[in-house]
Amino acid sequence: MSHSTTLILFGATGDLAHRMLFPSLYHLQCDGLLPERFHILASGRTEMDDAAFRATIAEALKTYAQAELLDDGKVAAFLETVIYAPVAAGNDAQFADLAKRARTLGDGPIAVYLSTPPSLFAPTAQGLAKAGLVAPTTRIAMEKPIGKDLASSKEVNDAIGALFAEEQIFRVDHYLGKETVQNLMALRFGNRLFEPLWNSSAIDHVQITVAETVGLEGRVSYYDGVGALKDMVQNHMLQILSIIAMEPPARMDSTSVRDEKVKALRSLRPMTPETVHTHSVRGQYRDGAVKGKLIAGYAEELGKPSDTETFVALKAHLDNWRWTGVPFYLRTGKAMPNRQSEILIQFKPVTHSIFRRNGYGNSLEPNQLIIRLQPDENIRLCIMAKQPGLDRDGVKLQEVGLDVSLANAFAGERRRVAYERLLLDLIEGDTTLFVRRDEVEAQWTWIDSIAAGWQESGQKAVQYAAGTWGPSAGIALIERDGASWYD
Ligand code: BG6
Repeated sequence: MSHSTTLILFGATGDLAHRMLFPSLYHLQCDGLLPERFHILASGRTEMDDAAFRATIAEALKTYAQAELLDDGKVAAFLETVIYAPVAAGNDAQFADLAKRARTLGDGPIAVYLSTPPSLFAPTAQGLAKAGLVAPTTRIAMEKPIGKDLASSKEVNDAIGALFAEEQIFRVDHYLGKETVQNLMALRFGNRLFEPLWNSSAIDHVQITVAETVGLEGRVSYYDGVGALKDMVQNHMLQILSIIAMEPPARMDSTSVRDEKVKALRSLRPMTPETVHTHSVRGQYRDGAVKGKLIAGYAEELGKPSDTETFVALKAHLDNWRWTGVPFYLRTGKAMPNRQSEILIQFKPVTHSIFRRNGYGNSLEPNQLIIRLQPDENIRLCIMAKQPGLDRDGVKLQEVGLDVSLANAFAGERRRVAYERLLLDLIEGDTTLFVRRDEVEAQWTWIDSIAAGWQESGQKAVQYAAGTWGPSAGIALIERDGASWYD
């Protein structure tokens, strides 16, 4: 048998698999994008047979697949491709069984997806190798987090790297699968307009906000001790930052793109116990109301006091030719008033205003480019325009927005789940939208400097009421510099 492709999915009974991975695979199948002879070998610790497992996936699809794609015949055909094999890390006999089942499915390439707790990444990879399932054509994808600091991320990377070459390793950051994040590159490098201005001579500062309305949502055991810095900034926000800050890659291929991203990440100025106070704010939500709904405070839900931050605001500097003197302000938090992810590029004021004499001169607002990633996708460029009218005392200007809603511009196109792109790229072997080892390590190097600064200086998480934009120190962080968060 040849030309078969098998995806071995570990953690197949877990939440991510049910909410995202299986629905995304189903969507890909509906669009005819999966290889012709494709199988999913699903694996979890629980013992059950194929029929019982398929029933759980059928339920998951009903809830999480896109309604317009649900079709009984298509679901049945999809479930036919799913086979279940119970495997626990360290159980060689079960790995041998898995290998046997994989071989009955064909001798084509195997893609492995680890949707398990990170502590199982290395033992699972080792189990696969012992069972003879690791070949030069095998690919392996890993969910975040890759470690909890630089040292532990190196351990994970070493353990996986001992069995797989870097081109075979697909480190997942689901933000890279989002259309809107990929669109940042289209905006920067598909247009002549922005690139000549994309540097410190024209840009005053950059803001990146990823605000969520949700609180802990039952993820206490994972989240406590991790916090917003490691859960959101280390990965998703630094990926956004690196795409905004990188030099133009020569080509849209995995080496060229990732080479440029890693250079940007490496130019992040490390924080120190002395600078961390003026460049970072930690917060933790207490009880309050988010969109009119009362939610318990973090510590209350946890059941004990904790210093884990659910909000972080940072002022970052990139020490390189393009960005010197341009602060990048980052903020992310849970239990915020709105779900809102956006990037603001704040341009410098015009070098000379000719509108001074008429008394309206001080109202010239600097241009802003706002790229909203979630929940709706749009791009807004704020420019100054003349207010209509025959004013005797001169031209009166007002800020207006040039708006593009991507949902309207591409009306009729189905909104794809980030994991559709990532799973397809894994199956097809394209690593461009996955995180390379040196990127993860550059991210951790900077994050470690902040975590160490907090620890050494004893900087604590300040409380904020759920449903607000974080502690007032988070607002002061940017207002001290004469700017304000875009709202
Ligand atoms: C995950 C974090 O990586 O991203 C979560 O662990 C967070 O805490 C989530 O809620 C946000 O993803 P999205 O796609 O909803 O913005």
